[in-house]
Amino acid sequence: MNSNFEKHIEKYLTSLRKCQITDAMAYALEGGKRFRPRIIFAIVKGMGHDESVAYDAALALELIQTYSLIHDDLPAMDNDDMRRGRPSLHKAFREDIAILTGDQLLTDAFRVISESESYDAETKVNIISALSRYAGMDGMIYGQLLDVTSDNDNIDKDKLFEIQDNKTGGLFKISCLIPMYIHKEERSQYYTGLGSLIGQIFQNQDDLFDLIKSEKETGKNRSDVKNNKGTALSIYSPEQLQQIIDEEFEELDSYLKDADFDPVYITDLLKALKER
Ligand code: IPE
Ligand code: IPE
Ligand code: MG
Ligand code: MG
Ligand code: MG
Repeated sequence: MNSNFEKHIEKYLTSLRKCQITDAMAYALEGGKRFRPRIIFAIVKGMGHDESVAYDAALALELIQTYSLIHDDLPAMDNDDMRRGRPSLHKAFREDIAILTGDQLLTDAFRVISESESYDAETKVNIISALSRYAGMDGMIYGQLLDVTSDNDNIDKDKLFEIQDNKTGGLFKISCLIPMYIHKEERSQYYTGLGSLIGQIFQNQDDLFDLIKSEKETGKNRSDVKNNKGTALSIYSPEQLQQIIDEEFEELDSYLKDADFDPVYITDLLKALKER
């Protein structure tokens, strides 16, 4: 765990009005792997910056990630009682509080960027635009729509890709675009492509872990199976899926050969992802 970034999150939390929603925000923000922030830090470091320049942007993205999980667990969505080995937010607090907490996390992400002292006006607009686009209809929300209407018995490779590339790839695209904007580069296609590849691997692993790891290890219960959702395991056996993940890691390796930042930090991080 990156203690400086954790301190940044703490400081943010203590700056807010104290109420039930902020208590719920603190609960929901606790214990995440911070994988999307870590991608941001790995790329900005490879570009030669101190990772702290990305803390506000990474915080905003982690707020959105946290809101997406709270809403994903709600009874109307995956109906999951467990998250990170603890009761999910609507169980630990109440469903109405969980909905409002998700709304607050999403809304406040944009304030965090707007009021940040780390970016100039142009960079702020670019980051806000990427967050809105890829956490929204060109990403997470659209992917979640496809996910909730998916069916284990009726899903093909193209549909699976579309679900994963949006619901999970969306936020990973933001992770890769944020460093690009901070560095004032213009290479959106490359960075969204990178986010898409990482998102694909991440969601394939997540689906695989539902089957091959225990609930104790994943810290969540297998709601997608119970809900007959279309996932990677609707199409592939666990062995086939592991093979696909291995191939995707190789693809990612060669993709990084075209990076114009030093890939040493992201390569380390991806190694940890591969071994998780
Ligand atoms: C969970 O994301 C949602 C998926 C895209 C599978 P993470 O596995 O990054 O969740 P936390 O934040 O570390 O709990
Ligand atoms: C969720 O996918 C992706 C989101 C956009 C929240 P899952 O439903 O598989 O995530 P988990 O397994 O509950 O973390
Ligand atoms: Mg889901
Ligand atoms: Mg879920
Ligand atoms: Mg899952």
